[in-house]
Amino acid sequence: MGPEAELLAALDAWQHQDVAYQPPWPDAAHLGAVRSRLATLPPLVFAGEADALRTQLAKAGAGEAFVLQGGDCAESFAEATADKIRNKIKLLLQMAVVLTYGASMPVVKLGRMAGQYAKPRSSQTETRDQVTLPSFYGDAVNSHEFDAASRVPDPERLLDSYHTAASTLNLIRAFTTGGFASLRQAHEWNRGFTQNPAYARYEEIAAEIDRAMRFMTACGVDVESLRAVDLFASHEGLLLDYERALTRIDSRTGLAYDCSAHFVWIGERTRDPDGAHVEYFAQVRNPLGVKIGPSATPDDVVRLVDRLNPAGEAGRLTFIARMGAGKVRDALGPLVAKTAADGRPVTWTCDPMHGNTITVNGYKTRRFTDVVDEVAGFFEVHRGLGTVPGGLHVELTGDDVTEVLGGAEEIDADGLARRYETLVDPRLNHQQGLELAFQVVELLRA
Ligand code: TRP
Ligand code: MN
Repeated sequence: MGPEAELLAALDAWQHQDVAYQPPWPDAAHLGAVRSRLATLPPLVFAGEADALRTQLAKAGAGEAFVLQGGDCAESFAEATADKIRNKIKLLLQMAVVLTYGASMPVVKLGRMAGQYAKPRSSQTETRDQVTLPSFYGDAVNSHEFDAASRVPDPERLLDSYHTAASTLNLIRAFTTGGFASLRQAHEWNRGFTQNPAYARYEEIAAEIDRAMRFMTACGVDVESLRAVDLFASHEGLLLDYERALTRIDSRTGLAYDCSAHFVWIGERTRDPDGAHVEYFAQVRNPLGVKIGPSATPDDVVRLVDRLNPAGEAGRLTFIARMGAGKVRDALGPLVAKTAADGRPVTWTCDPMHGNTITVNGYKTRRFTDVVDEVAGFFEVHRGLGTVPGGLHVELTGDDVTEVLGGAEEIDADGLARRYETLVDPRLNHQQGLELAFQVVELLRA
């Protein structure tokens, strides 16, 4: 076999084993036809962009940058509107200003956007009032409506995912380079936030940022880099049929890139080092993430390094720890210590959302205090080991939903009913996201 044939064989090797958490597609021929169609469509992102992100993530792993990855638990097609996309970008930028200042480091901006349409489900079915239907697997697979026709997995939705991702990315590219994302603009939005008396606690940091901005203006600092940002796209690489169909061989290098997103992560449930997901993503050059929960052992994480980053390339692999506030201080240390001893670089980030999910009044929710406490624990563990806390991974929306308990505006158990809109997990709202950024700055200074 020549090198190209060898690469193609490696890209298809995952198909020889059972793939965990795939939806029960009823019609394999239909799925195959959609895969063929997707394979002819233009890439959504480009190899050079994924390489640039890898370099930025390497810096974060070395303590020279800080990652901010955020967006919906599950994006929906209906919410891929200009307003909602703009609000999400706006919140990410507002948080980024605060973190850039507080950490005195560039912030690597990664949206859970333009592709986060598929969810692994622990149960294949959902029962309501004695009616049992297939679970909702995300808009990439079926519809959230609870009726038999809506819940049948439909491969056409993979094409809809591609087109929705394309239009979302188009808007992201326009918003991040067309003046909307200027540092001055993002700072002005934050001034509106800190003028609210509920957030008086953050006034001092905001005033410092304001002085820094005026200092730059007075000095005549007016460079192109203040007007635009790089905002990268990421999602969980769950549906291997979709990811494989959007994988392209880069003509410059002859290497494979998953061109559905700049960054894909492997979920906590699909990170088996011998499983199909790890086997597949080992073959593509994109920077990769793996979610790491409290059940992971030091040997597990080293096996993942062996499989996904054997040569120890900086920026290639990010471990996204999601331990829970109550466990992070005990569970994370041994894993980080093991990768540090191994020596092959890993960028460690903190997902303070998924280990802190509780049910209140029938709503799946999280306490803002637990979220902050897990981030604090994450920093403590790294400080204790002399390793690098590389960033944050959060579920958020730019809208004023009421899905997470607490924050300075004190959403309480009854408040959840007011505006609970998520299709899957509870998200920080606009204020809570920004408040988290300010609290992280307080932690960085503690
Ligand atoms: N381009 C720089 C960066 O991405 C500075 C910058 C411009 C910025 N607009 C921003 C930083 C908005 C944060 C938010 O870091
Ligand atoms: Mn989630």
